[in-house]
Amino acid sequence: MVEPRGVHVPVLLDRCLELLAPALDRPGRAPGGRTVYVDGTTGLGGHAEAVLLAHPETILVGLDRDTEALAHSARRLERFGDRVHLVHAVYDELPQVLPKLGLEQVDGILFDLGVSSLQLDEADRGFAYAQDAPLDMRMDQTTGITAQEIVNSYSHPDLTRILRVYGEEKFASRIAAAIIRERAKAPITSSALLAELVRDSIPAPARRTGGHPAKRTFQALRIEVNGELSTWERALPAAIDVLAPGGRVVVLSYHSLEDRITKQAFAARARSTGPVDLPVELPGTGPTLRLLTRGGAEMASDVEVARNPRAASVRLRAAQLIEQEPGSRPGTTGQRAPHDRGP
Ligand SMILES: C[S@@+](CC[C@H](N)C(=O)[O-])C[C@H]1O[C@@H](n2cnc3c(N)ncnc32)[C@H](O)[C@@H]1O
Repeated sequence: MVEPRGVHVPVLLDRCLELLAPALDRPGRAPGGRTVYVDGTTGLGGHAEAVLLAHPETILVGLDRDTEALAHSARRLERFGDRVHLVHAVYDELPQVLPKLGLEQVDGILFDLGVSSLQLDEADRGFAYAQDAPLDMRMDQTTGITAQEIVNSYSHPDLTRILRVYGEEKFASRIAAAIIRERAKAPITSSALLAELVRDSIPAPARRTGGHPAKRTFQALRIEVNGELSTWERALPAAIDVLAPGGRVVVLSYHSLEDRITKQAFAARARSTGPVDLPVELPGTGPTLRLLTRGGAEMASDVEVARNPRAASVRLRAAQLIEQEPGSRPGTTGQRAPHDRGP
């Protein structure tokens, strides 16, 4: 097993701990009065380890679709014994995972989206444009379509769409055309060949700005291979549905489309769905979430970005499931607050 290179620094760790603490530091409903923390993207276990250390009465349900990541975090978290439950699952499967562990609701959830440094460092996974490897890019290598299959079979319009939307690549159509020309000669099987092809398709002046010319194409392929956006669209509402009252969810996104899905899912539940002209909420129409990051997403400080380049594009959003007054009906908060209804 390849050891992760250097020190992996969890992104916005202190802020994540601060946001989760009120939900985890309270009497829990899990056996022994413990609270439940779900790490939807356990990765190398950096955030998970810090939560377990900060909250000795909390148990972890740690998900990851990557079996190698789980093997690393299993070793890292071994000392926490029966407080740790690691599960090989895609994060939209959380509602099915919990009952298998005898759990119904959870107190805190973290999603640190995207790829781990382990995946980027392991040459044979094909995520990195700087290393030559077979074009795989699956986070779960046990299933699904590879980047090689996409590059060698998608049509010009489909390749262009993926590169433009997921990679925000200005030269999407030119790159797609170059891919199609090249694969007519021989299948494209290596990340180095693809990176070179992308570089050669981009006008020379544009190659000098915005980092490595192949970065956006590799990001786009990775998102397509792993169905990242459609999975995220299902996963976040499903996660909110299993929060206990007062439970909190924190999301770290690294792509504008992921962050938009997060923002919209939170906003939909943070506003009233009742008639605008009523001064009080009707039963079941009140907001169910309270936004903890009002006024937009939070970003990493310059100091953190200097220490940890991965933090440069992070956007953090967090929300809490509103606790109902005893005896009130779900979604009923009585007098409507002026900001309950969204724009
Ligand atoms: C950025 S890393 C998490 C790093 C972690 N917070 C830490 O401190 O070590 C993201 C992890 O999420 C996993 N992942 C990405 N999409 C997933 C999904 N849909 N379901 C489950 N795991 C996923 C990846 O395999 C990767 O290990």
